[in-house]
Amino acid sequence: MQNQVNISYGPEGLAALVQQLEKNEYTSLYVLVDTNTETHCLAQFLEQTKLTPTSILTMKAGEENKHLHTCEYLWNELSSRGADRNSALINLGGGVVTDLGGFVACTFKRGIDFYNIPTTLLAMVDASVGGKTGIDLGPLKNQIGIIQEPQQVVIDSTWLVSLPKEELRSGFAEMLKHGLIADPNYWGELRALENISPDVLKNYIKPSVALKSRVVLEDPREKGLRKILNFGHTLGHAIESYFLVEKDKKRLLHGEAIAIGMVLEAFLSIECSGLKLNTAEEIKRTFRRFYPKVEITNSDIESILALLRHDKKNKAGKVNFVLLKAIGVPDIDIEVPQELFLKAFEFYASA
Ligand SMILES: NC(=O)c1ccc[n+]([C@@H]2O[C@H](COP(=O)([O-])OP(=O)(O)OC[C@H]3O[C@@H](n4cnc5c(N)ncnc54)[C@H](O)[C@@H]3O)[C@@H](O)[C@H]2O)c1
Ligand SMILES: [Zn+2]
Repeated sequence: MQNQVNISYGPEGLAALVQQLEKNEYTSLYVLVDTNTETHCLAQFLEQTKLTPTSILTMKAGEENKHLHTCEYLWNELSSRGADRNSALINLGGGVVTDLGGFVACTFKRGIDFYNIPTTLLAMVDASVGGKTGIDLGPLKNQIGIIQEPQQVVIDSTWLVSLPKEELRSGFAEMLKHGLIADPNYWGELRALENISPDVLKNYIKPSVALKSRVVLEDPREKGLRKILNFGHTLGHAIESYFLVEKDKKRLLHGEAIAIGMVLEAFLSIECSGLKLNTAEEIKRTFRRFYPKVEITNSDIESILALLRHDKKNKAGKVNFVLLKAIGVPDIDIEVPQELFLKAFEFYASA
């Protein structure tokens, strides 16, 4: 079992980060940002911490850059800017920066220390917690990576102020997921929210982080319990990948895709895990309130199902799901008969 990662909050968290950096006496310090967090977060971060990094490393924003070519660029940058085994990398950004930056740090000279400062809601409640680092391979998500905890994670909701609304909503999907898989009360509170502004959501970040940390601590390498975090993700990832590569489709954010995935998998839960129909309807209604319906044609569905067969969690060609017996009661390793998939998309499309 791995040690509990050091997660701290707000300005005190940043102060603790500075202390730990000083204590570790790194030979050099790098801050990775993307083109958006460079604009919106970097100056404030440097001002608040008074850090003077050796270099700022900037990657292009966006999932399409969560690829090997960006890693190669960053390994070269680290190397030419004098990084050694006793250097450290601070990832200041969303899940793309924390996933990719973590992977770059874990592989550079067989691993240097790294720190996560998540600046999107999704990275705060999900991506920066749990030690999964990695990159995509072609259209397939997170195929290459390492499980390694950062030295420290500092979560500060003030970054959310500059975050576009749809990005906030994307992270909110993971919070709803946390309620669905583990805590009916939390689900109830979130689904009753009238609006999801940073000011409202900041109160719900800690419970989500605590929930994810608890699951990860018990099962860091996803042998059992951790699989529950994949609720909505088996179909959700396939949908996300499909909309990412289809040039004439509007891109879906991660949370938007898994919001669809959760509705589809709620339907599968009725059929395979005994979830009550009215609970599945409640799940659909809740997601519909926050996420407008996405048109998915029959030919889209065919391509999505083809991608599904590539999903990394499939064992021996079988598609395994995490489903729900009830809200807060997940059911792992459920094999779903393929003929139910089309019905699930019909359930999603219906009013
Ligand atoms: N490691 C894990 O356990 C885990 C879990 C969930 C998701 N993920 C990964 O996380 C990624 C998605 O994360 P994300 O939604 O944070 O995406 P992201 O990193 O692409 O950030 C979303 C957008 O917001 C911008 N941005 C970030 N912070 C900002 C701020 N404060 N103000 C203004 N703009 C800002 C980014 O530049 C980007 O354009 C996916 O690649 C997903 O696979 C990983
Ligand atoms: Zn997710």
